[in-house]
Parts: sequence; C-alpha cells; structure tokens
Amino acid sequence: MIPSHEKLVARLVQAGDLPQHWRAAFEQVERHRFLPDQITDADGATVDRTREADRWLTLAYDDIPVVTQLDDGTGDGSGYPTSSASQPSIVADMLRRLDVFPGMRALEVGTGTGYNAALLSHLLGDDSVTSIEVDPELAEQARVSLMSAGFAPLVVTGDGTQGWPARAPFDRVISTAAVQRVPYHWIAQTRPGGRILTPWGNAFHNGVLADLQVGPHGTAQGRFGGDAAFMWVRDQRVPRRVVETHVRPREQEFTTARTKLHPYEPVGDFEASFAIGLRMPTVLNRVEFPDEDEQRFTVFLVDPGTASWASWHIDQSPGVSDHEVRQHGPRALFAELEAAYEWWQRSGRPEHTRFGLTVSADRQQIWLDHEANTVTPDRAA
Ligand SMILES: C[S@@+](CC[C@H](N)C(=O)[O-])C[C@H]1O[C@@H](n2cnc3c(N)ncnc32)[C@H](O)[C@@H]1O
Repeated sequence: MIPSHEKLVARLVQAGDLPQHWRAAFEQVERHRFLPDQITDADGATVDRTREADRWLTLAYDDIPVVTQLDDGTGDGSGYPTSSASQPSIVADMLRRLDVFPGMRALEVGTGTGYNAALLSHLLGDDSVTSIEVDPELAEQARVSLMSAGFAPLVVTGDGTQGWPARAPFDRVISTAAVQRVPYHWIAQTRPGGRILTPWGNAFHNGVLADLQVGPHGTAQGRFGGDAAFMWVRDQRVPRRVVETHVRPREQEFTTARTKLHPYEPVGDFEASFAIGLRMPTVLNRVEFPDEDEQRFTVFLVDPGTASWASWHIDQSPGVSDHEVRQHGPRALFAELEAAYEWWQRSGRPEHTRFGLTVSADRQQIWLDHEANTVTPDRAA
C-alpha cells in the first residue's frame, strides 16, 4: 500500500468504521485506480492528475467524496455534481450496515467509479456481484478500471431503479444513489430475509440511510439510520435553483405575518429537519445570506408543484425579537412548517432512528416507533 492509502485504512480501523472481514478488501483495493485524471475538489476546482499529481493523490486518499462527473457529463451545465467516489468512511459504514458475507449475491445501484463494486467483488467474488450504472460512459469507465484492478463483476448499463431481474434473487441490494421512494423492483428482486440499504431523503432533507429487510409477503420494512447526503437517482432528483424559478417571478405577491420562531432548529437541526421533511417532503428549503450583513438572512421554503413559497426574514440585530414571514400560493408553507415542528416537539423530539418505513408494491409508509403509528405528509406528495 502506498503511505496515504495505508493511512486511510488505519484511520477507518481506528474510527471503528471497518469491520474485520472488510479489512483485506480496503487494503487491497486502491481507490486511486478508480478515479479519472480530472477530479473536482471541495471548492469546485478541477484537479488534473497530469499537472498536480501529488494533490490528486492526496484527494484520492483523504476521507472525502471525490466528484468525478459534472452535469451528467454534458459539459454545458452549471457544474452540478452528478457522480462521485463516495467518502471512504461512508462506503465502509454502508458495507458494515449491509451485513453482507461471502456466499451472498449483491446488487449495487450506482456503479460510479467502480470502487465500491471492487470492494464487494473482493469479499463476495466477481460472480456474486452485479452493479448497475445509468450513465453509459461511467459504466464503461468503471468496467475498464475494475478490469485493470483485477475485478470482473457484472457491470450493467441501465436504470438501477428497475433492478436487474436476470440475476435475481439477490441477498443484498445496496444503492449508492439516494431515493425519495424505494423502488419496488428492489424488493421484488430480493429474497425473503434479504436486505436493502439505500440513502433516502426528500426535497426538505437529504438524507439518511434506509435499512430494510424483505419479509415473506413481498413487503420490506426497516428503520432509518446514519447521516448520508447522496446524489439522487436520476429520475428522483429534486428541482434546483427554485428561488430563481419560483420565488423571484412572484416576489411582490405575498401575505405577511411575524414570528418569534428561529430556523436554527426546524431547518438547521438534523433531527428536527428530518422529521419535518417527513411531513412536507416536496418542500425545499434554501438559505440566503446577504454578503454585507451578518445579522440578517432569509430562509426560503418552496413547493414547486403548487408554486407556493414562503420567505422567513431573520433579523438577529440586538433588540429584535421577531421576524417577518411572507407567504405566497395555495400552501401556507411557513404555517405548515410551524405545525410540523410543533408535532415533532410534542412527539418527544424523536431522532431519525426512531422512524422507519414499510414498502409494499403500491406504497411507502413512514412510521414512528412502530408500524401502526403512521406519519403522513400534510399534502399528498
Ligand atoms: C455517488 S455515485 C456512486 C459511487 C460509486 N458507488 C463508487 O463507488 O464510485 C452515484 C452514481 O449513481 C448513478 N445513478 C444515478 N441514477 C441512477 C440510476 N437510476 N441507475 C443507476 N445509476 C444511477 C450516478 O450516475 C452516479 O454515478
């Protein structure tokens, strides 16, 4: 192992992220072999291996996600990340939670660079691993990287939300792209008793991991855990730039109110915002800080489907104790947020691990503590 690789593995072991049976795979699969020559750093700058070899290698073995594709590879977007090699500690955490062992057959959704598929192949053997990637160029590049690193799982080019029935049933399905709705194909293609692990979230909160077990009657059930913000599967992406598209054109049409509520907890706290997102899953929140004034900022709530928005104008200047709220459209989004926040408080401020979901052929039902205690969105999502 090169020193930076050795350091990364030692760090994962020390943090307790790497179970013993995964250690050999993490030691032998070299992450840098799966990265393209041009990667994007945390500030959005391109790092070219041929010009900055040391920095490129440092990024390959830092415990960070490395962005490997922007704008679906079209080259003409706003620089929106569309593929990455996920953060190694999160890769390790997901593989640990997947509870997968030799002798099992796994489907990975979102091949990306092929790094995670290589780890799975190391543990399970090539024939037991199927990985599916929607982007043909990424799929082909992953096949090449896997081959040159000595692995040959089946890499399929296609829409992973459909699963891959030709190799079903699987013991495990692991998605490395986030969903808002767990595709039923994954459940139909997993044997009873098998597990499905996927990043899960909604427009309000991205996200957590959903850890599901498939039951005997074609449903899957499990709880949320972890803290994982992943890229969305392509057809479940949330809209972007919603303030520009949905607020600015109607910025002068609103009703006003005043509130003492500060967004610190309902928007800024992981647990509170996760719970609130379950009640208003289609609503995005965006925070804008004006450059010149550190005391003031605005939180926007936007529901693109109904063209409703709210803006919450926070003033933290000394002596100011309440904030202006503006609302527009058929949904009073700030009032809904207040109600959802009160519900979370009344419910004993539950953490995300107390929530779970049951997925059947026709629906995905969220619950708190037990299946009968359902949580439903304020409006049909
Ligand atoms: C975070 S990256 C995956 C990281 C990858 N597992 C690795 O080890 O490098 C998410 C990937 O999911 C892919 N993706 C998005 N939607 C998909 C879909 N519907 N089916 C299959 N792959 C999809 C993206 O193109 C992207 O490459």
